[in-house]
Amino acid sequence: MDLSVNQQALAYLASAVLFILGLKGLTHPATARRGNLYGMLGMLIAIVATLVGREVQAYGFIIAGLAGGAVIGGIVAMRIQMTAMPQLVAALHSFVGLAAVLVGIGTFFHKQANGLLNPVLMGEISAGVVIGAITFTGSVIAFGKLQGLLSGAPVKFAGQHLLNALIGLATIALAVHFAMTGNLLSLFLMTLLALVIGVTLIIPIGGADMPVVISMLNSYSGWAAAATGFTLHNNLLIIVGALVGCSGAILSFIMCKAMNRSIINVVFGGFGSDGGSADSAGAQAAEKGVKSAAIEDAVYWMEDAGKVIIVPGYGMAVAQAQHALKELMELLAQRGVEVKFAIHPVAGRMPGHMNVLLAEADIPYDQVLEMDEINSEFPSTDVVLVVGANDVVNPAAKEDPTSPIYGMPILEAGRARQVYFLKRSMRPGYSGVDNLLFYQDNTYLVFGDAKDTIEGMNTALKGGGH
Ligand code: TAP
Repeated sequence: MDLSVNQQALAYLASAVLFILGLKGLTHPATARRGNLYGMLGMLIAIVATLVGREVQAYGFIIAGLAGGAVIGGIVAMRIQMTAMPQLVAALHSFVGLAAVLVGIGTFFHKQANGLLNPVLMGEISAGVVIGAITFTGSVIAFGKLQGLLSGAPVKFAGQHLLNALIGLATIALAVHFAMTGNLLSLFLMTLLALVIGVTLIIPIGGADMPVVISMLNSYSGWAAAATGFTLHNNLLIIVGALVGCSGAILSFIMCKAMNRSIINVVFGGFGSDGGSADSAGAQAAEKGVKSAAIEDAVYWMEDAGKVIIVPGYGMAVAQAQHALKELMELLAQRGVEVKFAIHPVAGRMPGHMNVLLAEADIPYDQVLEMDEINSEFPSTDVVLVVGANDVVNPAAKEDPTSPIYGMPILEAGRARQVYFLKRSMRPGYSGVDNLLFYQDNTYLVFGDAKDTIEGMNTALKGGGH
């Protein structure tokens, strides 16, 4: 079956509309599933419309690639832990980047062989190859850092910004030269330098800034796809690339705002650390006298409380404690306690991480509040239960101008009557910064895996508590 150009354009239009509806759906947990479905349907229509279009001359390689990719992708998606999602996303961005580079170079040779090269086309190829190459190596480095294969600490050296600027300028000069002359050496050097920029741009970024990097790379991968769309004269690829490019850029901006950092500062700042050692944190804690508490202590205060706010963080995801938390919420509600969940925009390891897990446990959306909505409620709260969260409640972000997280808005848990942290050790959170809230008079640490601790609380509540 051969789709006419008009039929294909209509199918592409339908896909583009579905992608936009998909993005809209993903803006709220209640509609996220539907949004995903729209996105999948849009992609199915796009793939089918492309495959039955006139450009496709042979199916052998395409089917082999599709089948191989589908099997590998399916297995990886089924096996991946929720907490390893950022790495997976980084790896997938690297594929988009690499594809853009290969399509660009392939198109160049194909058009050259047919005498169809022109400066506009070569300009498009340059854009796709350069952005794709930066996305590729940048994403590989981000993957290595998040997976722990490379140190997560920022790598900085003297003259780094100057070096980046020089490589950037040389790449642009080579791209212009290539577009004007079609010189193969320029294409080669331009690609090589762009691959180097991907590395030098990402190695100085570390610690808590990695989520912004992932979303920036997401944006780059979109622009690489859009440039490839121009090269291949494929309107849908241009639209989808622009959607991904813009939404990634907007997400980066929102995350920077949530951390009170400028995007320039993130990209060129070299901020964050690889996490401090448990020993040093433990020693500091002993010196300053951090108070620990038993499960029963926390239960005692919670069951008589008027209001309890639960602050989930990365540790809740590690412990998979969301279902136990749902039960705790119900047990407390039966005793007339008002229970709410407070979500920091960068809690966990990816945007919406906590919302997804709480939704999975069927925790009603109206009890899950964003930082801005709930911060004013902490002073009238009896107990805050911090479940595997750390950085997002650290007052150092407000009080210590020397702290690397200074300026990041936090959930003001410390203003409640009592704060109980559920964590396994004195280790700091993702940014590696010691938590000042541990040392506050009204704070207690209940040590242990968050799920075990909450199940212990549930048992105590069911058995009449203490
Ligand atoms: P973190 O500050 O990383 O703290 C997580 C805490 O969970 C740690 O103190 C850890 O202490 C505890 N924990 C780990 N496993 C646990 C378990 N099984 N049971 C109980 N506790 C456990 O988390 P957060 O407060 O959610 O902050 C997020 C941080 O990650 C921010 O710095 C943010 O910038 C960064 N980040 C965010 C994203 C996005 S987009 N959300 C992506 C990447 C990075 P123990 O080891 O002592 O148990």
